[in-house]
Amino acid sequence: MAEIIRIKDIARYVGREVTVRGWVYNKTGKGRLQFILLRDGSGQAQCVAFNKEMSPEAFEIARGLTQESSVIITGEVRADERAPGIPGGFEIGIRSIELLQVANDYPITPKEHGTEFLMNHRHLWVRSNRQWAILRIRATIIKALRDWLDDQGFLLVDTPIITPAAGEETTTLFEVDYFGEMAYLAQTGQLYNEANIMAFGKVYCFGPTFRAEKSKTRRHLIEFWMLEPEIAFCNLEELMDIEEGMVCYVVEQVLEKHQRELEIIERDIDKLAAITSPFARISYDDAVARLHQLCEEIDDPERKAELAIEWGEDFGSPQETAIAEMFDKPVFVYHYPTAVKAFYMTPVAGRPEICRSVDLLAPEGYGEIIGGSERIHELELLEANIDKMGLGREAYQWYLELRKFGTAPHAGFGIGIERTVAWICGLNHLRETIPYARLLNRKYP
Ligand code: 4AD
Ligand code: MG
Repeated sequence: MAEIIRIKDIARYVGREVTVRGWVYNKTGKGRLQFILLRDGSGQAQCVAFNKEMSPEAFEIARGLTQESSVIITGEVRADERAPGIPGGFEIGIRSIELLQVANDYPITPKEHGTEFLMNHRHLWVRSNRQWAILRIRATIIKALRDWLDDQGFLLVDTPIITPAAGEETTTLFEVDYFGEMAYLAQTGQLYNEANIMAFGKVYCFGPTFRAEKSKTRRHLIEFWMLEPEIAFCNLEELMDIEEGMVCYVVEQVLEKHQRELEIIERDIDKLAAITSPFARISYDDAVARLHQLCEEIDDPERKAELAIEWGEDFGSPQETAIAEMFDKPVFVYHYPTAVKAFYMTPVAGRPEICRSVDLLAPEGYGEIIGGSERIHELELLEANIDKMGLGREAYQWYLELRKFGTAPHAGFGIGIERTVAWICGLNHLRETIPYARLLNRKYP
């Protein structure tokens, strides 16, 4: 019996007979020689059917294979540098072949398809090379984030998905009927992280979060994954140090592990290689001044209007993109106006109109990938803010109690996985960064 292998390991089996199980990605050849590009999820290998090396029945099966037909192939591994595949450079001389199913009329053919068509067939589209590469990089990004935090002494503590109160803005809450009572899908795990640091010091949560965002942009998903570290006795400057170290490590890991995938998606590697410490740190005041300066230098009235901003306003995508484009690396923007940020952010001493917040904007125009802040740890101030926003103290009793029993300064942030994947992979829309995107107008498949 030949050993069953995964194609990623094929280099170790040269000269030996192996069995591979998978799907036909492509088939070429004519007459007595058929080339089957087989993918098994781990990679792709060229399998060669030569009528002299197999039974007539087996050869007929090979000849009749169509794109995405499922098969089990046994044959000898040969090194051949011309052979296509992933890793490539090896082929399998087919000895026998077991047909599981001939796939008829697979809808995603090598020709170009429209985005809507592909999104409707996302359950099949994930098999395509490009999607395969992106989702593998996504998995590495998540692992690298977690590895880095684990190594730094953070503890993974899970937070609930069904929650009694808003964690961010009340305008984007998803309501859930909780046995006749109103509950919401989590917008963030942060508030629970703030409780958990009092038990563990440094924690993070990682999970899906939900925002009923009515905006239809390439940067917004309805369901997205967020990793949120929270640290006791941490200030904004230390928070930026953590973010910077973590992001550099993630990029490094992707470069180290995914040369092939980055090639498949045609990512400019040099841009990623430039992502090293330190990142620039500019204040919101400074960012607004830079935008004003930029506006002065622009002639196009439409572009000018798009970038126009008054001190106190939040950045929209155009402003964020413009600031991010001023740097080759991610840039921190700190001390945003209190009025445009969440209720839990600490006001700056002596300047309460700005708060101890920081966003990390990714280069090449990607914009915000991380949002974070120092949290209000003073009971009265937090109560006042909750009242001011009309959130209702009742649902926040437990959160307020954290400020009664050993309150301490603390800070944390949330990194959006899909925004990070989009930037690192160089994608212009979030829909390809997650296996099954939830968008304003899409929940299928
Ligand atoms: O800035 P946000 O809203 O911050 C929070 O939720 C904090 N509670 C995090 C914390 O401090 N623990 O979201 C954080 C990040 C953003 O920078 C962005 O990357 C991502 O989450 N994000 C979204 N990604 C995709 N679609 C959306 N609708 C997103 N909203 C936020
Ligand atoms: Mg934000």
